[in-house]
Order: sequence, then C-alpha cells, then structure tokens
Amino acid sequence: MTASPTRPLIAPSLLAADFSRLGEEAAAVERAGADWLHLDVMDGHFVPNITFGPLVVKALRPHTRLPLDAHLMIAPADPYIAAFAEAGADHISVHPEAGPHLHRTLQLIRSLGKKAGVVLNPATPIEAVVNVLDLTDLIMVMTVNPGFGGQAFLSSQLAKIAALRELIDASGRDIILQIDGGITAKTAPQVLAAGATCLIAGTAIYGAPDYAGAIAAIRASAPPAPPELSASSGG
Ligand code: DX5
Ligand code: ZN
Repeated sequence: MTASPTRPLIAPSLLAADFSRLGEEAAAVERAGADWLHLDVMDGHFVPNITFGPLVVKALRPHTRLPLDAHLMIAPADPYIAAFAEAGADHISVHPEAGPHLHRTLQLIRSLGKKAGVVLNPATPIEAVVNVLDLTDLIMVMTVNPGFGGQAFLSSQLAKIAALRELIDASGRDIILQIDGGITAKTAPQVLAAGATCLIAGTAIYGAPDYAGAIAAIRASAPPAPPELSASSGG
C-alpha cells in the first residue's frame, strides 16, 4: 500500500492496546483497515518507560500480515537490530541520539533487508538526518516526547514537518514521513497539510470502542484530492 497526501498510511501503535491480548489486538487493527502496526520498544534508559523486546515481536508476527514498524527507543540500539530483524520487524527506526554512528546503524538495518528509519525528538533538528537521506526509508517526527502514549500533540513540530517535506521533495527520494504522538482526527489534518504521509496513533485507535471507525476518522481527515487526480482515478 502506498501513501499519498490524500491517502495517508495509518499505523496503530500497539502501546495503547490491551497487553494481555497483544496477538488479538494486532489482528483487530488489521481487520479494521490499518496499513502498518507500530511497535514501541522502550528500555527504561533511553526513555523513562519499559515495554517489550524481540521476543514479543516474534510472538506477534504470526498474528498479522501487516508490516511491523518497530520504533526503537533504546540505547544502544545496534546490538539488538539483528534480533528485531530476525523476529520479523519490517521497518526498524532509531533515534540519532541512541548511538554515535547513525550512518552505520542505517547501513546495518538495510543490510538485513529491512526499511531503515530515523526518528526526530521534539528538540532534534532536521539536520540530524540531512546527510543520511540516501540510507533512509522513513523519517519519523515525534510530536510528543517519546516514552508514553496519551500525551498532548506538540504543534511546535509542524514547521519541522513542513521543512522535512521540502527536504524530501527536493531530494527526489521516496521517503515516508511519519508522525508519532498525539495524533487524532483533530490533529491529523494539521500534520497532513504540513506534508506527512504516515500517521501513527495509539490512544486514538486502541482507546476507541470501534477501531475501524477510529481509523476511518483519522484517514478521512486528509484533504480532498485535487480535481485532476480525482478525474484520473475515477469514473
Ligand atoms: C511514544 C510512542 C508513540 C505512542 C503514541 O513514545 O512512540 O508511538 O504510542 O501514542 P499516542 O497516539 O497515544 O500519542
Ligand atoms: Zn512510536
């Protein structure tokens, strides 16, 4: 499934799911229309919370066909990347602050046949990724401080999203621009207008009684297609 400004990818974050039923929760969002499943890996050191590791990713793998989008909030990350790849993660994203050699880390992820991502904290400038675009498949902008679900969206990050959109477009590269934190049907239109192509949402999907309705509501917040695109895609 490809993203477009009018058809954003939706990646529910399992962090807000019922942890006693993770397999069922993964399958449920697939049925509900999700594009990817976002997995928040936390070590209690890089971020002040602990979640799960490769063993849980491996256990989840048979429960869904969705691409598994692993967001590593761990430092160091390099010693664990092969384990996440073997466990079945399809995308592996790291924070530049998690190690001294981001270029080498991205090379490692790519060498394992996985899509490589760079995650920018609210205080991290876009310069952190500018010189490694050739090794980057995904750029994720944090619109909360990493560590917890259910936090308030930081609109201060909208300018960064727009700047990354320009950078990606100028590069001519097919890099997905993901937004993580505080995404709801209300905040999604702002990040989509700024140029995001993938929306990660935990509370707004897993906290809703109807996952399909919640995913549809976030997706429907995308701006309508320009007239020429509408004409060529329909009858
Ligand atoms: C926070 C995580 C997010 C989190 C988002 O560190 O990276 O993926 O699950 O949760 P919501 O959508 O509730 O802000
Ligand atoms: Zn995340």
